[in-house]
Amino acid sequence: MTRKFVVGGNWKMNGDQGQAKQIIETLKSAQLDPNVEVVIGVPAIHLFLAKELAAGKLGIAAQNCWKVAKGAFTGEISPAMLKDAGIEWVILGHSERRTIFKESDELVAEKVSHALDEGLKVIACIGETLEEREAGKTEEVVFRQTKALVAAIGSRWSQVVLAYEPVWAIGTGKTASPQQAQDVHASLRNWLSSNASPDVAESVRIQYGGSVTATNAKELAACPDIDGFLVGGASLKPEFVDIVNANL
Ligand code: G3P
Repeated sequence: MTRKFVVGGNWKMNGDQGQAKQIIETLKSAQLDPNVEVVIGVPAIHLFLAKELAAGKLGIAAQNCWKVAKGAFTGEISPAMLKDAGIEWVILGHSERRTIFKESDELVAEKVSHALDEGLKVIACIGETLEEREAGKTEEVVFRQTKALVAAIGSRWSQVVLAYEPVWAIGTGKTASPQQAQDVHASLRNWLSSNASPDVAESVRIQYGGSVTATNAKELAACPDIDGFLVGGASLKPEFVDIVNANL
C-alpha cells in the first residue's frame, strides 16, 4: 500500500493579508513534488483569500471549527460554513486547542465527527506532553486520544489524516528524533490494526509535527511510517518548499 505523502502548513495565529499572499504565491510558483499533497492551515480571516489564491493547487484548511451546524455559539464557525466557503480541510484537536482552550478528547471527537458529517477532510492531532513522555506514558496517551477518534470517524478514515505532534517538540526546536517519531507512528499503526482495522492501519496517513525544518525533513520522511508533516513555524518561511520536497 502506498500512502500519498501529505504536508500540512499550520500558520496558527500568524500573517496579515500581505504575508498570506506572499506565502501562497511562493508555493504556487515553486517546483513542488507532484507526489505530495499540500494543505495550508490558515487563520479563519484569511480562508477566502487563501482559497482564491491557491486556485485549487493547494489544499486549504481551517484551524478549528465547532461541533454542530448552527446556533447560539458566538464566535464559532461551523463545518457547514467552511464547506459553503469552499474550504475542504480542517485541523482539529491541535495541542494548543487541547491545552490552552481545554478541549477534551470527547470534544475533539465530536468536532471530528461533525466535520466528517459535513464532508470536510480532517487533520486530527494527537500527542503527549514532555511530562507524559518522561513518565513513560506516550503510548498510553496517544492511544487514549486516538481511541476517542475511532468511534467518531467510523468508516470515514479515508477522509482523515492523523498528525502525531509531541507537545514537547512543538515550537521548541526540539524535534523528535527520526527513531522516536517512527516508534510512535509504528505503534499507532499497530494499535489501529487491532482497534480500527488492518486496512485502516495500513492506509491511514500519519503526519509527524513538531519543529520540522528543511534540515531534518529528509531523515524524518525516510521513516516507513511517517507519511508527511504538519509544520508550524517553518510553514511561514520559504524553507517550507524544501520540506514539501523532502522526498526528492
Ligand atoms: O501543527 C504544527 C505545529 O504544531 C508544529 O509547530 O513550529 O514546531 O513546526 P512547529
